[in-house]
Amino acid sequence: MLEWLAMEFLGSHILSIDQFERTDIEKIFSTSDSLVPYAKRERITRVLQGAILSNMFFEPSTRTRISFGSAFNILGGEVRETTGIEATSLAKGESLYDTSRVLSGYSDIIVMRHHEAGSVNEFAEASRVPVINGGDGDNEHPSQALLDLYTIKKELESKNKSIDGLRIALIGDLKYGRAVHSLCKVLCLYQNVTINLISPKKLKLPSSIKKSFKESSVSFFETDDITKGISEVDIIYMTRIQEERFSSKSESGKYKGLMSLNQEIYTKNCEPNTIIMHPLPRDSRPDANELDPDLNQNPNLAIYRQTDNGLLIRMALFSLVLGVQNKIEESTSNVAWFSNK
Ligand code: NCD
Repeated sequence: MLEWLAMEFLGSHILSIDQFERTDIEKIFSTSDSLVPYAKRERITRVLQGAILSNMFFEPSTRTRISFGSAFNILGGEVRETTGIEATSLAKGESLYDTSRVLSGYSDIIVMRHHEAGSVNEFAEASRVPVINGGDGDNEHPSQALLDLYTIKKELESKNKSIDGLRIALIGDLKYGRAVHSLCKVLCLYQNVTINLISPKKLKLPSSIKKSFKESSVSFFETDDITKGISEVDIIYMTRIQEERFSSKSESGKYKGLMSLNQEIYTKNCEPNTIIMHPLPRDSRPDANELDPDLNQNPNLAIYRQTDNGLLIRMALFSLVLGVQNKIEESTSNVAWFSNK
Protein backbone atom coordinates (compact mmCIF):
# COMPACT_ATOMS: atom_id res chain seq x y z
CA MET A 1 0.00 0.00 0.00
CA LEU A 2 2.74 2.44 1.00
CA GLU A 3 4.76 1.50 -2.09
CA TRP A 4 1.72 2.17 -4.23
CA LEU A 5 1.41 5.64 -2.76
CA ALA A 6 5.10 6.43 -3.13
CA MET A 7 5.88 9.46 -5.24
CA GLU A 8 8.05 9.29 -8.35
CA PHE A 9 10.93 11.65 -7.66
CA LEU A 10 12.70 11.19 -10.99
CA GLY A 11 12.15 14.27 -13.14
CA SER A 12 9.49 15.70 -10.81
CA HIS A 13 9.02 19.32 -9.83
CA ILE A 14 9.15 19.91 -6.06
CA LEU A 15 6.58 22.65 -5.55
CA SER A 16 4.62 21.91 -2.40
CA ILE A 17 5.05 19.86 0.74
CA ASP A 18 1.61 18.42 -0.07
CA GLN A 19 3.29 16.24 -2.72
CA PHE A 20 4.78 13.97 -0.10
CA GLU A 21 3.52 11.03 1.91
CA ARG A 22 5.41 9.72 4.93
CA THR A 23 7.10 7.06 2.81
CA ASP A 24 8.51 9.77 0.46
CA ILE A 25 9.78 11.75 3.41
CA GLU A 26 11.49 8.67 4.81
CA LYS A 27 13.19 8.22 1.44
CA ILE A 28 14.44 11.83 1.46
CA PHE A 29 15.68 11.41 5.04
CA SER A 30 17.51 8.11 4.41
CA THR A 31 19.11 9.62 1.29
CA SER A 32 20.16 12.63 3.40
CA ASP A 33 21.71 10.31 6.00
CA SER A 34 23.74 8.56 3.29
CA LEU A 35 25.15 11.89 2.08
CA VAL A 36 26.70 12.96 5.41
CA PRO A 37 30.32 12.06 4.43
CA TYR A 38 30.05 14.31 1.37
CA ALA A 39 28.46 17.22 3.23
CA LYS A 40 31.20 16.89 5.87
CA ARG A 41 33.85 16.87 3.09
CA GLU A 42 35.21 13.49 4.19
CA ARG A 43 34.59 12.17 0.66
CA ILE A 44 34.13 13.80 -2.75
CA THR A 45 31.64 12.69 -5.37
CA ARG A 46 31.45 13.84 -9.00
CA VAL A 47 28.12 12.16 -9.70
CA LEU A 48 26.56 15.33 -11.16
CA GLN A 49 29.60 16.22 -13.25
CA GLY A 50 28.41 18.14 -16.33
CA ALA A 51 24.98 19.01 -14.86
CA ILE A 52 23.93 22.65 -14.50
CA LEU A 53 21.66 24.13 -11.83
CA SER A 54 20.02 27.50 -12.48
CA ASN A 55 19.58 29.01 -9.04
CA MET A 56 17.06 31.79 -9.65
CA PHE A 57 16.41 33.91 -6.57
CA PHE A 58 14.10 36.79 -7.42
CA GLU A 59 13.72 37.57 -3.70
CA PRO A 60 16.41 38.03 -0.99
CA SER A 61 18.02 34.87 0.36
CA THR A 62 21.21 33.81 2.08
CA ARG A 63 20.99 30.21 3.30
CA THR A 64 18.45 28.78 0.89
CA ARG A 65 20.31 30.11 -2.15
CA ILE A 66 23.81 29.24 -0.96
CA SER A 67 22.88 25.82 0.40
CA PHE A 68 21.09 24.81 -2.80
CA GLY A 69 24.13 26.00 -4.77
CA SER A 70 26.62 24.30 -2.44
CA ALA A 71 24.58 21.09 -2.44
CA PHE A 72 24.77 20.98 -6.23
CA ASN A 73 28.50 21.76 -6.22
CA ILE A 74 29.20 19.08 -3.61
CA LEU A 75 27.53 16.54 -5.91
CA GLY A 76 29.86 17.68 -8.70
CA GLY A 77 27.52 19.97 -10.68
CA GLU A 78 27.89 23.57 -11.84
CA VAL A 79 25.72 26.46 -10.67
CA ARG A 80 24.51 29.55 -12.57
CA GLU A 81 22.59 32.02 -10.51
CA THR A 82 20.81 35.32 -10.46
CA THR A 83 19.68 37.40 -7.50
CA GLY A 84 16.90 40.00 -7.54
CA ILE A 85 14.38 40.77 -10.27
CA GLU A 86 16.26 43.93 -11.25
CA ALA A 87 19.21 41.87 -12.49
CA THR A 88 17.00 39.95 -14.95
CA SER A 89 14.72 40.63 -17.90
CA LEU A 90 11.68 40.28 -15.62
CA ALA A 91 12.46 43.94 -14.90
CA LYS A 92 12.00 44.63 -18.65
CA GLY A 93 8.55 43.08 -18.61
CA GLU A 94 9.46 39.54 -19.64
CA SER A 95 6.92 36.95 -18.47
CA LEU A 96 7.69 34.08 -16.12
CA TYR A 97 6.68 31.79 -19.01
CA ASP A 98 9.40 33.14 -21.34
CA THR A 99 12.00 33.29 -18.57
CA SER A 100 11.30 29.67 -17.72
CA ARG A 101 11.32 28.44 -21.34
CA VAL A 102 14.67 30.13 -21.90
CA LEU A 103 16.42 29.14 -18.65
CA SER A 104 15.30 25.54 -18.87
CA GLY A 105 17.22 25.30 -22.14
CA TYR A 106 20.41 26.20 -20.28
CA SER A 107 20.06 23.93 -17.26
CA ASP A 108 19.24 20.44 -16.00
CA ILE A 109 17.30 21.63 -12.97
CA ILE A 110 16.12 25.00 -11.62
CA VAL A 111 15.57 26.31 -8.09
CA MET A 112 13.34 29.38 -8.04
CA ARG A 113 12.23 31.89 -5.37
CA HIS A 114 9.81 34.73 -6.06
CA HIS A 115 7.67 37.12 -4.02
CA GLU A 116 4.32 36.02 -5.52
CA ALA A 117 2.41 33.01 -4.19
CA GLY A 118 1.88 30.56 -7.07
CA SER A 119 4.70 32.03 -9.20
CA VAL A 120 6.93 28.96 -8.93
CA ASN A 121 4.06 26.72 -10.12
CA GLU A 122 3.53 29.00 -13.11
CA PHE A 123 7.27 28.91 -13.83
CA ALA A 124 7.35 25.11 -13.51
CA GLU A 125 4.49 24.64 -15.96
CA ALA A 126 6.57 26.33 -18.64
CA SER A 127 9.84 24.63 -17.73
CA ARG A 128 11.45 21.83 -19.72
CA VAL A 129 13.40 20.64 -16.65
CA PRO A 130 12.46 19.96 -12.97
CA VAL A 131 11.85 23.03 -10.83
CA ILE A 132 12.24 23.19 -7.03
CA ASN A 133 10.32 25.82 -5.07
CA GLY A 134 12.76 27.91 -3.01
CA GLY A 135 9.84 29.91 -1.54
CA ASP A 136 6.86 31.52 -3.31
CA GLY A 137 5.50 34.59 -1.52
CA ASP A 138 3.64 33.76 1.66
CA ASN A 139 2.62 30.37 0.30
CA GLU A 140 5.14 27.53 0.64
CA HIS A 141 8.76 26.66 1.32
CA PRO A 142 8.89 22.87 0.96
CA SER A 143 12.65 22.32 1.30
CA GLN A 144 12.62 24.37 4.52
CA ALA A 145 9.84 22.18 5.93
CA LEU A 146 11.82 19.07 5.04
CA LEU A 147 14.98 20.32 6.73
CA ASP A 148 12.95 21.45 9.75
CA LEU A 149 11.27 18.07 10.02
CA TYR A 150 14.60 16.26 9.59
CA THR A 151 16.03 18.42 12.38
CA ILE A 152 13.01 17.74 14.60
CA LYS A 153 13.45 14.00 14.00
CA LYS A 154 17.18 14.07 14.85
CA GLU A 155 16.70 16.23 17.94
CA LEU A 156 13.87 14.03 19.23
CA GLU A 157 15.72 10.80 18.48
CA SER A 158 18.54 11.96 20.76
CA LYS A 159 15.88 12.01 23.52
CA ASN A 160 14.33 8.66 22.51
CA LYS A 161 11.24 10.38 21.12
CA SER A 162 9.73 10.44 17.63
CA ILE A 163 7.74 12.88 15.48
CA ASP A 164 4.55 11.00 16.35
CA GLY A 165 3.53 12.56 19.65
CA LEU A 166 5.51 15.78 19.03
CA ARG A 167 4.53 18.89 21.03
CA ILE A 168 5.63 22.07 19.27
CA ALA A 169 5.05 25.83 19.73
CA LEU A 170 5.05 27.93 16.56
CA ILE A 171 5.65 31.55 17.42
CA GLY A 172 5.55 34.88 15.57
CA ASP A 173 4.19 35.75 12.14
CA LEU A 174 2.05 32.70 11.45
CA LYS A 175 -0.02 34.56 8.84
CA TYR A 176 2.71 35.31 6.29
CA GLY A 177 5.42 32.80 7.27
CA ARG A 178 5.71 30.31 4.42
CA ALA A 179 8.15 28.13 6.38
CA VAL A 180 5.49 27.71 9.07
CA HIS A 181 2.79 27.01 6.47
CA SER A 182 4.76 24.17 4.90
CA LEU A 183 5.82 22.79 8.29
CA CYS A 184 2.22 22.74 9.56
CA LYS A 185 1.06 20.84 6.48
CA VAL A 186 3.75 18.18 6.77
CA LEU A 187 3.08 17.68 10.49
CA CYS A 188 -0.46 16.58 9.54
CA LEU A 189 1.11 13.33 8.25
CA TYR A 190 2.12 12.35 11.80
CA GLN A 191 0.12 10.97 14.72
CA ASN A 192 -0.87 12.84 17.90
CA VAL A 193 1.00 16.04 17.17
CA THR A 194 0.13 19.03 19.38
CA ILE A 195 0.75 22.51 17.99
CA ASN A 196 0.58 25.66 20.11
CA LEU A 197 0.04 28.61 17.77
CA ILE A 198 1.41 31.75 19.41
CA SER A 199 1.04 34.98 17.45
CA PRO A 200 -0.34 38.50 17.62
CA LYS A 201 -4.11 38.30 16.98
CA LYS A 202 -3.76 39.87 13.52
CA LEU A 203 -1.05 37.41 12.45
CA LYS A 204 -2.79 34.10 13.10
CA LEU A 205 -2.23 31.00 10.99
CA PRO A 206 -4.50 30.96 7.87
CA SER A 207 -7.73 29.07 8.46
CA SER A 208 -7.13 26.76 5.45
CA ILE A 209 -4.18 25.26 7.36
CA LYS A 210 -6.14 24.98 10.61
CA LYS A 211 -8.74 23.09 8.57
CA SER A 212 -6.05 20.54 7.62
CA PHE A 213 -5.30 20.08 11.35
CA LYS A 214 -8.93 19.20 11.95
CA GLU A 215 -8.85 16.68 9.11
CA SER A 216 -5.76 15.00 10.62
CA SER A 217 -4.87 13.99 14.16
CA VAL A 218 -3.18 17.33 14.99
CA SER A 219 -4.57 19.15 18.02
CA PHE A 220 -3.89 22.86 18.42
CA PHE A 221 -4.72 25.97 20.39
CA GLU A 222 -4.11 29.66 19.70
CA THR A 223 -2.84 32.33 22.07
CA ASP A 224 -1.02 35.66 21.95
CA ASP A 225 0.72 34.99 25.26
CA ILE A 226 4.13 33.41 24.69
CA THR A 227 4.50 32.26 28.32
CA LYS A 228 1.25 30.26 28.05
CA GLY A 229 2.34 28.36 24.94
CA ILE A 230 5.93 27.33 25.64
CA SER A 231 5.70 25.53 28.97
CA GLU A 232 4.93 21.98 27.83
CA VAL A 233 6.53 21.49 24.45
CA ASP A 234 9.47 19.58 22.98
CA ILE A 235 10.25 22.28 20.43
CA ILE A 236 9.91 26.05 20.25
CA TYR A 237 9.92 27.27 16.63
CA MET A 238 10.38 31.06 16.50
CA THR A 239 9.81 33.11 13.36
CA ARG A 240 10.45 36.63 12.08
CA ILE A 241 7.77 39.21 11.32
CA GLN A 242 7.72 38.99 7.50
CA GLU A 243 7.98 42.74 7.00
CA GLU A 244 8.25 42.46 3.20
CA ARG A 245 4.67 41.11 3.06
CA PHE A 246 3.14 44.14 4.85
CA SER A 247 1.85 47.30 3.16
CA SER A 248 4.43 49.45 4.97
CA LYS A 249 7.23 49.29 7.52
CA SER A 250 5.07 51.18 10.01
CA GLU A 251 2.46 48.43 9.65
CA SER A 252 4.96 45.55 10.21
CA GLY A 253 6.58 47.62 12.98
CA LYS A 254 3.43 47.25 15.08
CA TYR A 255 4.19 43.55 15.55
CA LYS A 256 7.96 43.53 15.91
CA GLY A 257 9.22 42.78 19.39
CA LEU A 258 5.85 41.48 20.63
CA MET A 259 7.03 37.88 20.63
CA SER A 260 10.59 37.35 21.72
CA LEU A 261 12.48 34.65 23.53
CA ASN A 262 15.53 35.08 25.72
CA GLN A 263 17.31 32.91 28.28
CA GLU A 264 15.31 34.32 31.20
CA ILE A 265 11.91 33.60 29.62
CA TYR A 266 13.19 30.18 28.57
CA THR A 267 14.47 29.25 32.04
CA LYS A 268 11.32 30.49 33.78
CA ASN A 269 8.78 28.82 31.50
CA CYS A 270 10.17 25.85 29.59
CA GLU A 271 10.75 22.20 30.40
CA PRO A 272 14.49 21.44 30.70
CA ASN A 273 16.12 20.85 27.31
CA THR A 274 13.30 22.26 25.20
CA ILE A 275 14.74 22.58 21.69
CA ILE A 276 14.77 26.04 20.10
CA MET A 277 14.46 26.33 16.32
CA HIS A 278 14.06 29.20 13.83
CA PRO A 279 14.10 29.01 10.01
CA LEU A 280 16.38 32.09 10.06
CA PRO A 281 17.17 34.84 9.40
CA ARG A 282 16.38 35.99 12.94
CA ASP A 283 15.78 39.72 12.96
CA SER A 284 18.48 40.90 15.36
CA ARG A 285 17.61 44.60 15.20
CA PRO A 286 16.74 45.93 18.68
CA ASP A 287 13.07 46.60 17.78
CA ALA A 288 12.57 42.94 16.80
CA ASN A 289 15.13 40.58 18.40
CA GLU A 290 12.76 37.60 18.41
CA LEU A 291 15.54 35.23 19.46
CA ASP A 292 17.95 36.93 21.83
CA PRO A 293 21.71 36.34 21.35
CA ASP A 294 21.88 35.45 25.07
CA LEU A 295 20.58 32.03 23.92
CA ASN A 296 23.63 31.49 21.69
CA GLN A 297 25.42 29.29 24.21
CA ASN A 298 22.30 27.29 25.08
CA PRO A 299 23.00 23.74 23.80
CA ASN A 300 19.32 23.35 22.96
CA LEU A 301 19.54 26.12 20.36
CA ALA A 302 19.35 24.03 17.17
CA ILE A 303 19.42 26.81 14.56
CA TYR A 304 22.82 25.95 13.10
CA ARG A 305 22.07 22.23 13.17
CA GLN A 306 19.01 23.21 11.08
CA THR A 307 21.11 25.09 8.53
CA ASP A 308 23.64 22.24 8.30
CA ASN A 309 20.78 19.81 7.75
CA GLY A 310 19.53 22.04 4.93
CA LEU A 311 22.58 21.10 2.88
CA LEU A 312 21.86 17.37 3.28
CA ILE A 313 18.17 17.71 2.44
CA ARG A 314 18.93 19.74 -0.70
CA MET A 315 21.60 17.26 -1.80
CA ALA A 316 19.05 14.48 -1.30
CA LEU A 317 16.41 16.32 -3.38
CA PHE A 318 18.85 16.83 -6.27
CA SER A 319 19.98 13.17 -6.09
CA LEU A 320 16.43 11.82 -6.13
CA VAL A 321 15.02 14.18 -8.79
CA LEU A 322 18.02 13.62 -11.09
CA GLY A 323 18.08 9.88 -10.34
CA VAL A 324 21.65 9.51 -9.09
CA GLN A 325 20.99 8.46 -5.49
CA ASN A 326 22.34 4.94 -6.15
CA LYS A 327 25.28 6.07 -8.31
CA ILE A 328 27.07 8.33 -5.85
CA GLU A 329 29.50 5.66 -4.66
CA GLU A 330 30.64 5.03 -8.26
CA SER A 331 32.47 8.33 -8.53
CA THR A 332 34.00 9.05 -5.14
CA SER A 333 37.47 9.92 -3.90
CA ASN A 334 39.12 11.27 -0.76
CA VAL A 335 39.39 15.00 -0.21
CA ALA A 336 42.81 16.49 -1.00
CA TRP A 337 42.55 19.54 1.25
CA PHE A 338 42.55 20.09 5.00
CA SER A 339 39.06 19.66 6.45
CA ASN A 340 38.01 19.40 10.09
CA LYS A 341 34.24 19.73 9.83
C1 NCD B 1 12.55 31.84 5.49
C2 NCD B 1 11.87 32.28 4.20
O1 NCD B 1 12.52 32.81 3.29
O2 NCD B 1 10.68 32.05 4.12
N1 NCD B 1 13.95 31.92 5.37
C3 NCD B 1 14.63 30.84 4.88
O3 NCD B 1 14.51 30.48 3.73
N2 NCD B 1 15.37 30.13 5.74
C4 NCD B 1 12.03 32.54 6.70
C5 NCD B 1 12.13 34.04 6.74
O4 NCD B 1 12.63 34.70 5.81
O5 NCD B 1 11.73 34.60 7.76
